[in-house]
Amino acid sequence: MLDIKVTLNQNCKEKPDWFKLGFGKYFTDHMFLMDYEEGKGWHDPRIVPYGPIPMDPSCSCFHYAQEIFEGMKAYRTAEGKIQFFRPEENFKRLNTSCERLVVPKLDEELLLEGLKQLVTIEKDWVPESPASLYIRPFVIANQEMLGVHPSTHYIYCVILSPSGAYYASGIDPVKIYVETKYVRASRGGMGAYKTGGNYAASLIAQEEAEKEGYSQVLWLDGVERKYVEEVGSMNVFFKINGEIITPDLDGSILPGITRKSVIQLLESWGMPVSERKLSIDELEQAARDGKLEEAWGTGTAAVISPIGELKAGDTVTIINNNEIGPISHRLYDTLTDIQWGRQPDPFGWITPCCD
Ligand code: COI
Repeated sequence: MLDIKVTLNQNCKEKPDWFKLGFGKYFTDHMFLMDYEEGKGWHDPRIVPYGPIPMDPSCSCFHYAQEIFEGMKAYRTAEGKIQFFRPEENFKRLNTSCERLVVPKLDEELLLEGLKQLVTIEKDWVPESPASLYIRPFVIANQEMLGVHPSTHYIYCVILSPSGAYYASGIDPVKIYVETKYVRASRGGMGAYKTGGNYAASLIAQEEAEKEGYSQVLWLDGVERKYVEEVGSMNVFFKINGEIITPDLDGSILPGITRKSVIQLLESWGMPVSERKLSIDELEQAARDGKLEEAWGTGTAAVISPIGELKAGDTVTIINNNEIGPISHRLYDTLTDIQWGRQPDPFGWITPCCD
């Protein structure tokens, strides 16, 4: 067992109403911390009371955004067991993000063990279905300096947030429009990595979309502004004339773990997914021809988010009568059933945490 120092919180909070959680608004009583210093490596893993992290105002993450994060969930089964969904994939991706942002890599086994210990301490904070415990691991650069170069000091931290649906509308279809003014990421940039800068770059589009009554934008590639990439902060899938398509991971798209699971699930159902470029022209043509049968976003927070309305230029297309389509529905049910232990897990996606 990993030697993690534990300092228990003597002032534990009252738990919120599980039915009014929203997303990412409440935090548990403890967090996991670990430090990095050049020459010493990652050291001092510890679980401490949740609270502010004192940092010098000159710390490099504040100025140059050397930061990475992950998002995953812990679920409470009907039998009261706590389990994770593919956490190994999240820690693997965290290290991929580390490489891109020149952050020293972390020991994935240690991270998983640390997470299990933290969630075991906080197990009373894991709500029942349909809510879950959202897990946010992140690394921030905290060298005190203003020079632009990789930091010599970092903090790894994990915080936990009991959360309900990401969208207030739950699994109801969302309205999106094709974003033509702003770009989220481009090949060679950071789009394929989970780092705050990508999300900061998306905020203005999100705000403008909301003002116009849309929940998300459909991002196009940053080079030709021609190919579909992601929807909001999710990967995106379309069913056009019987073919299920998702943009291929060409360097600017986040390799989503829900995306990967959806591809595996659909394949197991005999519905192969074409991972290929999908141009906005092809998508619009399919919409005009009535061949756009279904569309949905995938992500950890929302799981499956059906798209009911797509606006491209002045053309508005209602998809599947603005109702959740059969594939999105089956995917949502199957994924959430596996996550909460209501269905067997033939893929080995579930990692037990504690009873
Ligand atoms: C996800 O659902 O995977 C996301 O990335 C959303 C999160 C940043 C809140």
